Amino acid sequence: MIGQQLRALALGATMLAGSVALPAQAQIVRPDLQLGTEVQSFGRVSFDGRSLMIDGKREVIWSSEMHAFRLPSPDLWRDILQKMKASGFNSVALYFDWGFHSPKPGVYDFTGVRDIDRLLTMAEEEGLYVITRAGPYVNAELTRGGFPGYLVNQRSRARTDDPAYLASVDEWLTQINAIIARHQIDNGGSVILHQIENELALTTPSQRRYMDHLYAKARADGITVPIFHNDQGRNGYWVPEGSGVEKVVDGPNDMYAFDAYPGGTCTVGGEPTRGSAAPDWGYYGTGGARGGASASPNSPGFAAEFGGGWFDYWGSNGGYDCNAVQRGRRYQRVFYGTNLANGIGIQSFYMGYGGTSWGWLPAPVVFTSYDYGAAISEPREIRDKGQELKQLGGLIAAVTDMAGMVPAGPVEISTDQVQVYHNHSPESDARFMLVTQNPSNGDGDHSFTVTADLPDGRYTMPLRLNGFDAKWLVAGADIAGQRLVWSSSELQHGFTQDDAGIMLLYGRQAEDGRTLLRYTSAPTVTVVEGNVRHTFDAAKGDLQLDYTHRGLARVRIEGGGRPPLTLLIADEETGWQFWKDGDVLVRGPHLLRSAEMSGSRLALTGDTATASPLEVWAPRAARNVTWNGQRVRLQPGTAGSRVATTELAGPRDFALPELNNWRVAAGSPEIAPDFDDSAWQAIDRRAYASTTARPDGEPNMSMDAYGFHEGDVWYRGRFTGTPDAERIRLAYGAGGSGMVQVFLDGELIGQQDLPWGLPRPITTGTAEYDLPDAARTPGEHVISVMVRNNGHNWDLDADDFHKEARGLISASVEPRGGRSFAIPLEWKIQGRQGGEDIVDPVRGVPNNGGLFGERQGWHLPGFNDRAWQQQAAPASDLDPGTTWYRTKFDLAVPQGQDATLALQFGDPAVPRSAAQYRVLIFVNGWHMGQFIAHVGPQRTFPIPEGILNHRGNNTVALAVTSDGAPGNALEPVRLVTMRNVRGGLKVGQVAAPATLRD
Ligand code: GAL
Repeated sequence: MIGQQLRALALGATMLAGSVALPAQAQIVRPDLQLGTEVQSFGRVSFDGRSLMIDGKREVIWSSEMHAFRLPSPDLWRDILQKMKASGFNSVALYFDWGFHSPKPGVYDFTGVRDIDRLLTMAEEEGLYVITRAGPYVNAELTRGGFPGYLVNQRSRARTDDPAYLASVDEWLTQINAIIARHQIDNGGSVILHQIENELALTTPSQRRYMDHLYAKARADGITVPIFHNDQGRNGYWVPEGSGVEKVVDGPNDMYAFDAYPGGTCTVGGEPTRGSAAPDWGYYGTGGARGGASASPNSPGFAAEFGGGWFDYWGSNGGYDCNAVQRGRRYQRVFYGTNLANGIGIQSFYMGYGGTSWGWLPAPVVFTSYDYGAAISEPREIRDKGQELKQLGGLIAAVTDMAGMVPAGPVEISTDQVQVYHNHSPESDARFMLVTQNPSNGDGDHSFTVTADLPDGRYTMPLRLNGFDAKWLVAGADIAGQRLVWSSSELQHGFTQDDAGIMLLYGRQAEDGRTLLRYTSAPTVTVVEGNVRHTFDAAKGDLQLDYTHRGLARVRIEGGGRPPLTLLIADEETGWQFWKDGDVLVRGPHLLRSAEMSGSRLALTGDTATASPLEVWAPRAARNVTWNGQRVRLQPGTAGSRVATTELAGPRDFALPELNNWRVAAGSPEIAPDFDDSAWQAIDRRAYASTTARPDGEPNMSMDAYGFHEGDVWYRGRFTGTPDAERIRLAYGAGGSGMVQVFLDGELIGQQDLPWGLPRPITTGTAEYDLPDAARTPGEHVISVMVRNNGHNWDLDADDFHKEARGLISASVEPRGGRSFAIPLEWKIQGRQGGEDIVDPVRGVPNNGGLFGERQGWHLPGFNDRAWQQQAAPASDLDPGTTWYRTKFDLAVPQGQDATLALQFGDPAVPRSAAQYRVLIFVNGWHMGQFIAHVGPQRTFPIPEGILNHRGNNTVALAVTSDGAPGNALEPVRLVTMRNVRGGLKVGQVAAPATLRD
């Protein structure tokens, strides 16, 4: 509960649902359920109140989110898209981060790791529909919520129709909309829906005009697909005009969409909670904008984001494993299923793959890893929850009648401990029954019956629900040339191959199951494997199969007036061994990426995690089968399959080098009184755009005003020694777990870490230090201050929160004891080399801040460090300030293997070190993360292939910042293998400069 409160507060939002009361049995067909029947068409995409349609065909849009900017290795985007597809998704949602593309007004870059055109082409090639979300504001736990750095200097209010803001916005939209427009489904691409803005909860006239502007701009830029906004919770903000529902604010959108992360969370101790039942945000809800059929009856239920995990905070106990469980298996069945039953036929889970907030991407609320507990982990492994999604997505794909279903009326349930959502397709009358606990977050073990009038007659179905879980049951449906009367098993796949059907059913391990199929006469049933009893009811034509879900049973059914059927019945986890692409079913490997038929050749590609059997159900024409390009010998298997005569090879182990050859250099020369800062900018009284209050009459010290938006910034202030120079007082902004170091004439006089406080991360601080006697001696003295800016705030509440000041806000040297006058100080500032004119446009905006070593290119692989001191292992003491470590090593990951390697610091068993220090991690020049030893929780930093050279030479550079106290120094650093499979995709090195001069 505490965790839940903390998280709700941390968001500063009400997005976590409170407890939503469910009707005792959610079977009520609302008498006032009036769904819009008018079809609104946008080229190939159209919709009515019930569903989206593509080319006039109703579709469930089953999507999850990825952020290409969180995976700076474009070849691996395809890996994620293929894994999403293999996990049962038909769509992917993509945020775009304006600030990632634009270092300076008028300067935009869509090349390399920012190549959106390539990303959209890949999604289209992989057969995924795309939902584009181009902001301009996106939130997404990004610094400034995705706004570019220079927007912090804009005095006009963001997210309004202020002309200066709109002029900037239009620059971005002109660029991004043009790329998106090319990839729309009507132009041969796969973009089907487009979002403007994100969670704009302020609904003033100015905001309305802003939204109108965004809509008109998208249309003017050639966006023709339906446009929606993502409401922060199901509040009914910005619903399409004329929807005629209460408590809503009209917007210019074509469709209404919302986001939500309900249903408990993880405690601070890392335990999942099941705080509330799945809300009825649709057909089974009650009243107004929050309940009811839809906040927008003329457009289908649409969750633009629904909890697919959650983010984690500086200083947490490491919540991603918990988040993966809390919004993982069973949760997905219960919550996503309840959405589906409620008519939310467009769902996108946030995140499907979270990735890495590398460099200075993160907002203050998050650290480097954005794993999110998503179905695909940060090291790119499909989690168990992804296997469950594969089963759910398989059902959605097999039962085309699922799209546009509506409530079908009550059923009889033999217990009130369980509820059944009973829907049907108005066109085919096919049924979907979602069976959950009552309330749905319950966890009892119930055996019960459900009696219902189904399309093929009245049936009593014996069922079991054991624990927090839901069953997705289908009845009265035509699947794979068969008639499924009903089944207590769930359908994973059902399709036609050549002229026969294949159906894969599954159920909980050791649970009994029953399936009824209908025939015109008694079919021939051959139980090839397993224990399946069958009877035929000649009067009804029902073939009844009874079995227990255990391992895999195989049944061949022939005759009976239907095409032959191969029926496979698995326990749930045996079902995970199956993968389907098109009309090819494969069992055995760790992953099937693709199955492509050309002539007699069937080319399978995928991964193995160990030596694996391969069993294939393929069209007869497939005589030559290859696995990752290698011919596979097959022999006949059972029930129509073919089996490889030898196992597919697994990956080979490989050794990683030890990192015991370091070169070391001191990295804070700015602290020396005689450091040459003649090229630095002088602090002056330029216009102040920050929302942070500061003392009257002071100069503008904020780093952003000087074009330094990311990472570290240095200030040097000169004053003449006087007996009054007794103390220094500072106010600073440093983001989440940021810090400040203050030096006088080369000596550290104080360091302050911002506490990783919740409910909101503490992002600004004040510090006051007594000055040593040296400050009172005659002559010139120099104060050097380094501020680490760990991210600008997001602008979640549209209150310009992203304009909170960063760097120094004010600084004064003054006497103690109530005599308030300040000693005159001349300040200079230096941040990232070039400021907004970034010197490394390839690695781009997030890569660099303003450390001396970064300004000199010490982080880059081509830097010559031969003059640096050699060390086998990091020293146990450091000087105050920043010390750089560099090392080079070779890697030799076997060809044809896909591994995820990581850098790991200190003892992986504890979330926080006793030693207090921070590390900026550069791999081949790319800033891949920040380790804060005493804050945690992240110690292991996966580095994607393409950044890391898996077959060649690599350079790691670490910028280690410490206060110099004994022991506050770099702990052992090692390479670790997080994941290793045979297969994968070919990944090229991301080309980037090796030195500052390249
Ligand atoms: C949503 C928001 C996303 C992201 C998410 C939490 O409300 O739209 O951008 O911040 O919350 O991860």
